[in-house]
Amino acid sequence: MTIRVCLAGGTGWAGSAVARAIAGSDDISVVSAVSRTHAGRTLGDVLSEERLDCPIFSTAREALAQPCDVFFEFTKPDVAKANVLAALGKGAHVVIGTSGLSEGDYAEIAAKADKSGRGVLAAGNFALTAVLLLRFAEIAARLIPQWEIIDYASDGKLDAPSGTVRELAFRLSKIRPSELTVPLAETQGVPETRGARLAGSQIHSIRLPGYTISVEAVFGMPDQRLTLRHDSGSGAQPYVDGALLAIRRVSSFVGLRRGLDSILDLG
Ligand SMILES: NC(=O)c1ccc[n+]([C@@H]2O[C@H](COP(=O)([O-])OP(=O)(O)OC[C@H]3O[C@@H](n4cnc5c(N)ncnc54)[C@H](OP(=O)(O)O)[C@@H]3O)[C@@H](O)[C@H]2O)c1
Repeated sequence: MTIRVCLAGGTGWAGSAVARAIAGSDDISVVSAVSRTHAGRTLGDVLSEERLDCPIFSTAREALAQPCDVFFEFTKPDVAKANVLAALGKGAHVVIGTSGLSEGDYAEIAAKADKSGRGVLAAGNFALTAVLLLRFAEIAARLIPQWEIIDYASDGKLDAPSGTVRELAFRLSKIRPSELTVPLAETQGVPETRGARLAGSQIHSIRLPGYTISVEAVFGMPDQRLTLRHDSGSGAQPYVDGALLAIRRVSSFVGLRRGLDSILDLG
């Protein structure tokens, strides 16, 4: 059985790499794609890959008129939630790669997924080393009560913090909030330099040319420190294997799961 995918953002930097990988697979096919600038063309025409002969639509709602098993969201945060809810309404399972969704957005998506009896897998980062960072950080937070997170990305990235960092903060919030020796309200000078509090973690976002996505979780204890760091290179390939795995597994459960490791056997 071939898994039919609607690929929203299939012409983008990340989505096109996933589309090309799907073209080379024998168990997944792209049946429709979403992009405003290329609507009316085929994905294969835009990506010079003749095996991708599906139509491109300017909105997810139009694309979802073609029956699909999995809706893959790889567009932008301003439309992602509406796309995901529309896909669940059409009975599709959903993989979310787009970053920038809030905890409130995820709560709404989780409720709709439960109600629809469909699976949603949201992964702020499909790269294996980022997935491992999340898991190792959870272990560290159980033992070390103080940490801060540094979020690095390119200057043009619209959302802050990155999806990877949101996911990290969310996961650590399930363990405990990071302790602050000096409460933020008692900070003297410019309190904003201490970063933003998100889900119990202190976050510092840096946006500069030269970065793709890097994440640093720094755990501090008296006289010792642990730094966990993930760095992406400039290509989209690290995300592809995880994205395909998510497409293959997302129909195996109901409700929202966060993080690729939720479908990996990491012991
Ligand atoms: N989870 C992960 O591992 C991972 C990895 C990489 C990136 N990301 C995230 O994935 C998202 C996409 O990143 P990217 O670098 O691939 O972006 P990108 O190169 O700008 O591609 C965005 C894609 O979405 C389409 N799009 C954007 N806005 C749209 C709208 N309003 N309606 C319909 N289509 C729209 C674009 O086509 P048109 O402009 O023609 O509409 C394009 O196909 C970002 O949120 C990024 O942070 C996640």
